[in-house]
Amino acid sequence: MKPTVTIIDYQQGYQSSIRAILTKIGWAEQYIAPAEQNMQNLSLDKENYGVYLAVSGERAVGFLYVQYYAWNQLCQIHGLAVDVDFQRQGIASALVARAEEFARWKKARGIYVDTPANNTRGRKFYEAIGYQLGYIMPRYYEDELDGVTYQKFFTTLPSSTNLPSP
Ligand SMILES: CC(C)(COP(=O)(O)OP(=O)(O)OC[C@H]1O[C@@H](n2cnc3c(N)ncnc32)[C@H](O)[C@@H]1OP(=O)(O)O)[C@@H](O)C(=O)NCCC(=O)NCCS
Repeated sequence: MKPTVTIIDYQQGYQSSIRAILTKIGWAEQYIAPAEQNMQNLSLDKENYGVYLAVSGERAVGFLYVQYYAWNQLCQIHGLAVDVDFQRQGIASALVARAEEFARWKKARGIYVDTPANNTRGRKFYEAIGYQLGYIMPRYYEDELDGVTYQKFFTTLPSSTNLPSP
């Protein structure tokens, strides 16, 4: 039987789980320490950030954090990862659904996420949950590693808006 997984707001007691998830995924230390710190610090700013954990028993098995930008009324997902032993069980989908709830609560127009162009798993995931490729940013992560942005808007524009002027 699958263990029960619940999505909760970030709680500091789970901080060590963040490290465990990312170490198992194979992230380098230079990315792990900031992720741990970000989760803790940003969770204090509830107006601008949603910081969420997927919890199974005593430990977190997934996390995500999302930021609201007032200037363009968009939200950005910054971090999303699921423990390798818990993948393909809908946990990331549930975390993103929670991020979208946060975005709608902020009355954002939509939500987007950047990921390395070579992150096949991540790209397939976002495509599977209905995100569309927005743009490719050459050399975003490293000189040899482009970034790709996936986005989802909560409303569609009237079709005439997309037509070129006569
Ligand atoms: C990408 C990631 C977050 C997906 O987490 P997850 O909990 O396994 O995702 P879900 O179970 O919600 O997947 C939903 C759908 O996305 C697609 N998908 C997810 N992982 C996939 C993979 N490895 N290959 C192909 N499709 C995939 C599938 O269509 C899946 O539905 P299905 O299992 O019914 O076929 C996880 O693989 C991960 O932590 N990767 C490392 C970190 C990362 O890349 N983060 C995202 C970029 S910021």
